[in-house]
Amino acid sequence: MNIAPKRYLITSALPYANGLKHVGHLAGAYIPADIYTRYLRAQKRDVVFVCGSDEHGTAIPIQAMKEGTTPQAIIDKYHQAMKEDFADLQISFDVYHRTSDPLHHETSQEFFTYLHERGELETKETEQYFDEGSQTFLADRYIKGTCPHCKSDRAFGDQCESCGTALSPDELINPMSTISGQIPIKKKTTHWYLPLGRHEDFLRQWILEDHKNDWRASVVGQCKSWIDGGLQSRAVTRDLEWGIKVPLPEADGKVLYVWFDAPIGYISATKQWAIDHNKDWKPYWYDQDTQLVHFVGKDNIVFHCIIFPVMLKLHGNIIPANVPANEFLNLEGDKMSTSRNWKLDMRDYINDFVKKENGGEQCVDMLRYYLTQIAPESKDSEFTWKGFQDAVNSELVSIFGNYINRTFVLMHKLCGGKVPKFSIELEDDKDRQLVKDIADIKNRVGQSLEQYKFREAMFDVIDLARKGNKYMQEKEPWIVAKSLAENPAAQQQIDNCLHHCLQLTANLAVLINPFLPVTARKICHMMKVVDKVLDWENAGSMKLLSVGYTLREPQLLFRKIDDEEIAFQIEKLKSGVMEKPQEQSVAVQAPEKDIKSEIVFDDFAKIDLRTGVILSAQKVPKADKLLQLEVDLGFEKRTILSGIAMHFQPEEIIGKQVVVVANLAPRMMRGVESNGMILMAEDAAGKLHFVQPDGVVAPGAKVS
Ligand code: 2FM
Ligand code: ZN
Repeated sequence: MNIAPKRYLITSALPYANGLKHVGHLAGAYIPADIYTRYLRAQKRDVVFVCGSDEHGTAIPIQAMKEGTTPQAIIDKYHQAMKEDFADLQISFDVYHRTSDPLHHETSQEFFTYLHERGELETKETEQYFDEGSQTFLADRYIKGTCPHCKSDRAFGDQCESCGTALSPDELINPMSTISGQIPIKKKTTHWYLPLGRHEDFLRQWILEDHKNDWRASVVGQCKSWIDGGLQSRAVTRDLEWGIKVPLPEADGKVLYVWFDAPIGYISATKQWAIDHNKDWKPYWYDQDTQLVHFVGKDNIVFHCIIFPVMLKLHGNIIPANVPANEFLNLEGDKMSTSRNWKLDMRDYINDFVKKENGGEQCVDMLRYYLTQIAPESKDSEFTWKGFQDAVNSELVSIFGNYINRTFVLMHKLCGGKVPKFSIELEDDKDRQLVKDIADIKNRVGQSLEQYKFREAMFDVIDLARKGNKYMQEKEPWIVAKSLAENPAAQQQIDNCLHHCLQLTANLAVLINPFLPVTARKICHMMKVVDKVLDWENAGSMKLLSVGYTLREPQLLFRKIDDEEIAFQIEKLKSGVMEKPQEQSVAVQAPEKDIKSEIVFDDFAKIDLRTGVILSAQKVPKADKLLQLEVDLGFEKRTILSGIAMHFQPEEIIGKQVVVVANLAPRMMRGVESNGMILMAEDAAGKLHFVQPDGVVAPGAKVS
């Protein structure tokens, strides 16, 4: 039975609050959800878009250990940072909540109690790995070892980092405690399990039959192999300190498994939204006429299509209408990876483009455009900086931006800055075709969006701008204008063309709005109309702008990306990588010989090399590569500018021993005098390393 949805609840995967997120995450679960939500809002449908930080699980205390701080400090830091990044990139959540909030703790505990009281959970005593040194059971990320599938040693108790396979600690070869590095023992413990096997018939019917045609093939395929592989009972509790306490007296020292509480976070977030807006949250989670859609990456499919739906069904909630999961986005020929630093963080893009002098919000839309164009909807896809540059320069600037700019410039030049009148007597086939194209494309874009085909939908909008350019090119109003002296009546031909071009501009604003909201608002500003014009129902109309209405001067919608910016980003990526990917490490380039021309000993003797210690370091404004250092040379302190900012954070090099060319003539760089040079060695991956004595040597010692 199909009931037309009365309301929509859209979710984006809750990101772990253990680090900044990269553009792969953005393309996977956030931009598509935002496009879909903006489209629904433009149709005035009742929609709530929720997200928040996932703040439990072993990933959080592990990150705290790495940063030498507490789990609470980690979640506070990254929750705030992620929230700001999403806001800067115009991801329009109605609420961005967090799973450490008491409202979420209560909601999750109530959920657990509900299932427990109805006998939907089972308890089991098993033997689990235990670290005797730290007296800790080793769940999930607390245990690592060799992957039984790909033999990588980057496998954890929940998942292999290399091949992505979901694992349990018992499957690891040579298991070892992440906390202490010790080999664990086995110890008995009792836990609560969700018996998925009881729900096999429901899952088979619901996913493999009811949704076999409207869900993405990759999603149905992954679910099928899970179901066919045998649905095991899944533990929903852990022996950990960090997390939501299991609400049972006999469960002292136990918390809910992070994958049990995190998806319940969607419900808590909705409750928070309802409190903030004086609304009722219940219809969004209980009424069958709500359409629930989860946007996630492919590594989250099983949780959103199998485990959470079973939990929701048992709890009496609605289950998702769709889970349009994306595949992965690679970067410059390799898998994106946080551990190897092979990634583009949202924050880096924001700093390098949006917050730069020549950047601004237009750069938000440039990234949104490229990530939608290459969205990994049906297979893994690839972000390349060259691809980004081409998408911006050859499509956004040359087709879309150019069309709108030409229309405004010509309207000001040939029609006195006002919307000209269209005379139906002069209407020709090209005019009629343009009107038809607008209507057809509106329908196609709508259909694609309803089917979560975001790439296709955006392609059609750009294609409409392309058709606009062609229409204008064929009508040539600038040529017609030359005949005005002898034939003043030709003005109506010009007016007809620009009338249609302007109506098309308004249509493009409506159609591009879900994808590029900054651009849509800018066009509205140029047209001097309120954002209400962006309502979806307006698309297809040729009456969006009133005849005689005065419009503003054009503003450029997008700037070009130049070659230097691209070269800079590629260099930054390569110089920041931690370790070469395995397939490349076997082919590390031999160091170049390339020796400089011979010098005599006296030449060398002129160089005064001294040991030093870095006392302070700071970034140099407007110089991405430079750090300003204060170096102690024993006999004096020096200011030295060093081109190492792409390789080190200022705080990580304080106290480092260095070797300094102490008698180099002072040089002015970026308005600061640099007195000396630090010696660095460059490895095959292009990463810089300090040249240092192999033991502690007092500052100022001679090096020869
Ligand atoms: O994979 C992840 O990053 C998880 N934090 C996603 C959780 S989605 C939801 F269940 F909350
Ligand atoms: Zn593996």
